[in-house]
Amino acid sequence: NEGALWGARFAGGPSPELAELSRSTHFDWVLAPYDIAGSHAHAKALEAAGYLDAEQARVMHAGLDALAARIADGTLRPDPGDEDVHGALEKALIAEIGPEIGGRLRAGRSRNDQIATLVRMYLIDHARVIAREVLRVIDALVAQAEAHPDAVLPGRTHLQHAQPVLLAHHLQAHAWPLVRELERLVDWRRRAGFSPYGGGALAGSTLGLDPALVASELGLDRPSENSLDGTAARDVVAEFAFIVAMTGIDLSRLSEEIILWNTREFGFVTLDDAYSTGSSIMPQKKNPDIAELARGKSGRLIGNLTGLLATLKALPLAYNRDLQEDKEPVFDSVQTLEVLLPAFAGMVATLRFDTVRMAELAPQGFSLATDVAEWLVTQRVPFRDAHEISGALVRACEQRGIGLEDADDELLRSVSEHLTPGVREVLTIEGSVASRTGAGGTAPARVAEQRAELVARTQAA
Ligand code: ARG
Repeated sequence: NEGALWGARFAGGPSPELAELSRSTHFDWVLAPYDIAGSHAHAKALEAAGYLDAEQARVMHAGLDALAARIADGTLRPDPGDEDVHGALEKALIAEIGPEIGGRLRAGRSRNDQIATLVRMYLIDHARVIAREVLRVIDALVAQAEAHPDAVLPGRTHLQHAQPVLLAHHLQAHAWPLVRELERLVDWRRRAGFSPYGGGALAGSTLGLDPALVASELGLDRPSENSLDGTAARDVVAEFAFIVAMTGIDLSRLSEEIILWNTREFGFVTLDDAYSTGSSIMPQKKNPDIAELARGKSGRLIGNLTGLLATLKALPLAYNRDLQEDKEPVFDSVQTLEVLLPAFAGMVATLRFDTVRMAELAPQGFSLATDVAEWLVTQRVPFRDAHEISGALVRACEQRGIGLEDADDELLRSVSEHLTPGVREVLTIEGSVASRTGAGGTAPARVAEQRAELVARTQAA
């Protein structure tokens, strides 16, 4: 088994079936640049501890640089006989600079501490990409909110008309969870910044290599405190997969609304042609596929997370080969979200809202009944009675087939002596929305303040 990282204690090479099962180069090759960075750092630790002289170190770094260039331009690829990215790169290094120097690199490290470090480096890089793309979705929502400061729509609970709200308030309600995802990524990064390198297979190294040097060379904050934990823990991967899944879920909730809003029945939004798709048979169709793919892919992101958690459950310390199963799901989650977010941001940025249609529907379904009850409270009627009076008015209007705003003075008076014509000041959508001035409420001034806070929190993250 030419070039393998192990073999001397075995009578022969692995069976072809085992090699087939064991091979991971088809997915772990994306870690090759990180493996090279780890090797540069490790070579410095070896030199600092006296295991490489200056000339050997120079040859080693030059060899690693040569491999990095060939990885980047695609001319270095794993061979079918390579078990994993680590073995493939050691073999290539020895081919490049010979076994006398190349064969010294592996001292004091194991694939176990390597892989645990490399996956963190990969995720930290992709956390930056994801944060930037999440930011674009937030920006698109904020821009739409800014562009529609006065538009209203029927706010819903149980998907039924409940109370009118500003469109800007509603859009910002979809932006806040994404702001929290950004904050989660920042918080995750503090836990991800540990370097397991130096932990060896599980117990640490005898060679006096400096793990803090390796950590700082790799841009990580500090070495892991415990070599068993460093090589065996994957909560940092699971937590990342959670943040990605939760981001998908956030997008899926907005997607579901966009899909509804885009129906003929709702008619609240039109999608830009560049962000919708057609049908192969029905010439008239224009479909919200980006929103549907976001909704569908969020299921896949949840699957990746739950699969990973199931792999970790009850796994004894320290490293077990099961841990190799962390990579495909989390890589898939990263790739899925990185493809989804730019399309999603474009769809949101180009939505056209039919604000006339939304305003028409906002008062329907007696959505101002709470305003009537709260107006009565301002007239010092106990809320219990106010609720009854407003309910009776709804019933009277429903029987007559009219809306609350159509009730004349006589009808108001017949329902309750407290219902004086003054109640009409809250029987408009503008009046209703404007009166919700409590913290976090839908009054235009509150919504504008909220948007400033949202933007500030986004910038702080
Ligand atoms: N490919 C493994 C993983 O992804 C790393 C190599 C460790 N292999 C081993 N036999 N100890 O976790």
